[in-house]
Amino acid sequence: MSATPDVMTAFTSGLADINLTESAAPRNGEKAAGMKSASATIYDMAATLSGKGDLWNWGMYDRELAEEIRARVPGFGEPWTDGFSEQLYFLALRDLPIDLDDYAGRTVLEVGCGMGEGLNFLSRIVPGAQLTGLDLSPKAVARASATLARGESLRFVHGDAEDLPFEDGSVDVLVNIESSHTYPDLGKFLREAARVLRPGGHLSHIDVFTKQRTATMRQAAKETEGLEWIADNDISDRVRAAVRRRMAPGSHFRTMLGKQRMNPLMRQVVAHSQILMFGGMFAGYQPPSTIKVLSKLGIVPWMSGLPMESYRHQIAVRR
Ligand SMILES: C[S@@+](CC[C@H](N)C(=O)[O-])C[C@H]1O[C@@H](n2cnc3c(N)ncnc32)[C@H](O)[C@@H]1O
Repeated sequence: MSATPDVMTAFTSGLADINLTESAAPRNGEKAAGMKSASATIYDMAATLSGKGDLWNWGMYDRELAEEIRARVPGFGEPWTDGFSEQLYFLALRDLPIDLDDYAGRTVLEVGCGMGEGLNFLSRIVPGAQLTGLDLSPKAVARASATLARGESLRFVHGDAEDLPFEDGSVDVLVNIESSHTYPDLGKFLREAARVLRPGGHLSHIDVFTKQRTATMRQAAKETEGLEWIADNDISDRVRAAVRRRMAPGSHFRTMLGKQRMNPLMRQVVAHSQILMFGGMFAGYQPPSTIKVLSKLGIVPWMSGLPMESYRHQIAVRR
């Protein structure tokens, strides 16, 4: 499958509507449905092209956190990952007021789980928990189910964040990482989160925000009954630190790319598009001169993406 120009246009214009307009963005109807369908197609394609162990978030870098992870998961890290994307997952649970050693029997739901690698990583952090991942991309879910699922302890289902297929009060912890910026109706997702969480349960929400989306989030958070917001942490600097490390010569990302068979020019183009996709603009990336020339000729995209203002971790408790 390939994403046709129509799908790309629906996705990028949907993203702009959602993230650059505060109130006028279509929350339902044809345009919102078109955005969701484009999103599923694009992440289906990503699931087909991604390698084993790939996560799809920008990551964060915090040396202390990395050490905490290594203390819990001996041998974590190289050669299979730089660990930055996993650090965001670790943060999602580590900053909740629940001891990481006290997860046995708790239900953890990740909404927007991609190919499930992040949730699989969390299963090593909190053994004994029952983890479920949900995603809009059928291929991502199929891949996660085929390669990672382990009975009741780690399972994956297809579904929509705005219409969760779970019973009221059935979830202890709901994790949502770098996914909600594509949801047409953020308020609907928060209401669904409040519905499926049991009293005392926690929502751990991590995402990147434009100025307008911050305002939408604040409004939606205020309007959602049953959720009490207990933290709103700006983690932008730590995310930028990870993106810059990924871009640097000799990084894990560069080394992996270097192993792929392609000519040097193509390698630069692939590196450029991946850097743009994984937060390059947010971290101040400047393309090399070859890419600038190719951009002027219209052969590769110039700086694409939305003007993201901050990357945040927000936590709510279900009352
Ligand atoms: C940038 S990826 C992040 C994936 C994963 N959380 C990670 O950090 O690697 C965004 C994910 O959100 C999913 N997604 C987008 N819209 C969704 C929706 N309405 N319901 C559920 N998942 C959705 C996409 O299919 C994709 O897998």
